[in-house]
Amino acid sequence: MSQHSSLNKSILITGGSGLIGKLLTAAFLEKGYQVSHLSRKPGNNPQVKTYLWNIAKNEIDEHCIDGIDTIVHLAGAGIADKRWTAERKRELIESRTKSIGLIYKLIKSRPNKVSAVVSASGVGYYSDSGDELMHEESPPNSDFMAQCCIAWEHAVDEGKSLSLRIVKFRTGVVLDKKGGALSQMALPVKFGVGAAFGNGRQWIPWIHWQDMIGMYLFGIDNIHLTGVYNMVAPNPVTNKQFMRAMAKQLFRPLWPLKVPAFVFKLLLGEMSIIVLGSTKVSAQKIENERFIFKYPDLPGALKQIYGS
Ligand SMILES: NC(=O)c1ccc[n+]([C@@H]2O[C@H](COP(=O)([O-])OP(=O)(O)OC[C@H]3O[C@@H](n4cnc5c(N)ncnc54)[C@H](OP(=O)(O)O)[C@@H]3O)[C@@H](O)[C@H]2O)c1
Repeated sequence: MSQHSSLNKSILITGGSGLIGKLLTAAFLEKGYQVSHLSRKPGNNPQVKTYLWNIAKNEIDEHCIDGIDTIVHLAGAGIADKRWTAERKRELIESRTKSIGLIYKLIKSRPNKVSAVVSASGVGYYSDSGDELMHEESPPNSDFMAQCCIAWEHAVDEGKSLSLRIVKFRTGVVLDKKGGALSQMALPVKFGVGAAFGNGRQWIPWIHWQDMIGMYLFGIDNIHLTGVYNMVAPNPVTNKQFMRAMAKQLFRPLWPLKVPAFVFKLLLGEMSIIVLGSTKVSAQKIENERFIFKYPDLPGALKQIYGS
């Protein structure tokens, strides 16, 4: 039987100004939860108190955890924003690991009532893993994406020694019209030049933004939930199926040609794994907890998003 925690939550979101953070902030506020952000810059939402931190300088506003019971850890430099130089790779990892480390240090040094950390992680943990269905206990890959996710989850798990409940969501591609990967994938389709990428057979682990919110709320409210959960819809599709569904939804043609893999490799280097890698991920574990997906199938998800 699932245990629900008290109704009034006070949630601190790291990286709350991003795509997922904005959606979660609105959803938490709507539920009547108190929301504050931990950010590198002042916020502009009058309903949200924004505390500042500077991770590189180990600086954090010590009041950020006052009255907080749950921390949602989303902060992290954008995985696909810049080329993966050695310096960028360090930034990608440290923005996720040193950041939560700073919070744990604060929790140790200051009276507080923080009881749970619900953190993002990525399906990059499994990275390019072909047609095999990846479960939470499947072994991680060994490339940079996997190394980043392993370090991230490990840093978050340090909270166990503080008796915190830890939930980690290995997140797939969050589908939202306002940003993220979907708007980039939709662009060529909208211009009538949509085509599959590489051989088109690579699996895309996706989730509708409303189910992403639903899972965060589920993870926060069900206090028996702990450990890692894949955050993906139960019906993954291949890149070709994805592009075809999008073209159909947008009433555009899909070119029978495929954008060859070398184009992405040339443009993106090592980062091309994000586009060309195949990751087929199971949603069984969260479904076993009786989480119900509103949008289990891609056509239905795209229909809701593009509103026809
Ligand atoms: N969206 C997806 O499809 C997806 C899929 C898998 C995993 N995830 C993970 O989920 C988390 C949230 O995703 P998102 O799409 O909302 O990301 P996002 O839009 O890029 O937002 C991330 C936030 O992290 C903070 N940030 C950026 N660079 C930082 C740095 N160098 N140091 C510290 N903080 C930094 C920023 O907040 P401030 O400017 O307020 O500091 C930013 O708004 C990320 O860690 C992401 O990797 C997302």
